[in-house]
Amino acid sequence: MKLLVTGGAGFIGSNYIRHVLDEYPDYHIINLDKLTYAGNLETLRDIESSDRYSFIKGDICDKNVLDNAEFDAIIHFAAESHVDRSILDATPFLQTNVLGTYNLLEIARQRDCTFLHVSTDEVYGSIEEGLFTEGSPLMPNSPYAASKASSDMLVRSYVETHKLKAMMTRCSNNYGPYQFPEKLIPLFIINALNGKPVPVYGDGMNVRDWIYVLDHNKAVDAVLHKGTPGEVYNIGSRNERPNIDIVKLLLEKVAAKLGRDKDEMLGLINYVEDRKGHDRRYAIDPSKIESRLGWKPETDFEAGISETIEWYLSNQEWWKRVISGEYMEYYKTQYGEDL
Ligand code: NAD
Ligand code: DAU
Repeated sequence: MKLLVTGGAGFIGSNYIRHVLDEYPDYHIINLDKLTYAGNLETLRDIESSDRYSFIKGDICDKNVLDNAEFDAIIHFAAESHVDRSILDATPFLQTNVLGTYNLLEIARQRDCTFLHVSTDEVYGSIEEGLFTEGSPLMPNSPYAASKASSDMLVRSYVETHKLKAMMTRCSNNYGPYQFPEKLIPLFIINALNGKPVPVYGDGMNVRDWIYVLDHNKAVDAVLHKGTPGEVYNIGSRNERPNIDIVKLLLEKVAAKLGRDKDEMLGLINYVEDRKGHDRRYAIDPSKIESRLGWKPETDFEAGISETIEWYLSNQEWWKRVISGEYMEYYKTQYGEDL
């Protein structure tokens, strides 16, 4: 198998590539990535010399970007992925997430190859009670979520109209190594390590459903190998938590690892203005992928969080390079203070 992975220099895509190369000794990966602020080849240093891996620096919106590449399936991770940035400026979200996905669908149609679209539970909007199933209506609330829902609709249309062999996954919030520091978990770990305030939006009672990145990637892999074309698969760990609980857990664990005073660390909590249109609760029902494809999450949350904190402690060079330059400007715009 030769897999074309888009967005493989980002958080989830890079972890996916590493997983596939480890798991399947005869598989080859081509990684197509534009290297936006979120893409980082440092993340792939350990595998870049593998003769089963190659890299194309390019934009998924470019019609000719894959002209010289051969592959059997596209695993599509590339996206603009951060909700707060989509509130500041939605333009790149529409370009990459909608038009870029359309371009890849056209390429897949012309080549008649399998297309696995990596989507998100945010397309379902916010749910007060119960769980998102694959049949829940799409009710996106942020420009990011709307761009992903639009791409999901395009994928659906290519299945119906062109009989494309496409499948779709919708996963909950991921955490783990190599996540860009703008997202809640790495942002708060890094601020805690630096003794800086951690900005909790609103009342801190918004609920997210957290999954370890490798569990997500194993689910994507199960869909690739065992999924049915045309189907949608929700992915989640049945692990709902209010943000403030996560924040306290992170601060307590960082304090313990650094031998610092727990109460001083908890004093870094800073309630700030809420995110516009902030979805109150996400909660995924993963029964379909569990029963039909035999996938199950394997990582205990507390153990996964401890490993993740350990990873950010041991890989400070990685995130120190990442949080320079563009990110510092973004931080100032988003939080009104210097990083
Ligand atoms: P990320 O922001 O860490 O990485 C995105 C990658 O896509 C980067 O390497 C970037 O350079 C690349 N990219 C962006 N625009 C591109 C373009 N036009 N052409 C080529 N490459 C481009 O994102 P992530 O958190 O790894 O998310 C990956 C996918 O998973 C996204 O589609 C996202 O919607 C989805 N998802 C993420 C989560 C989560 O919790 N992070 C949960 C569910 C689904
Ligand atoms: O649910 C899947 C989605 O999870 C993915 O599709 C997105 O790509 C991914 O970014 C993530 O979206 P969220 O908006 O849920 O993740 P984020 O880490 O930005 O925020 C998690 C929660 O923490 C959310 O309720 C907002 C809150 N938060 C976030 C930041 C960055 C804060 O309170 N303060 C912050 O500074």
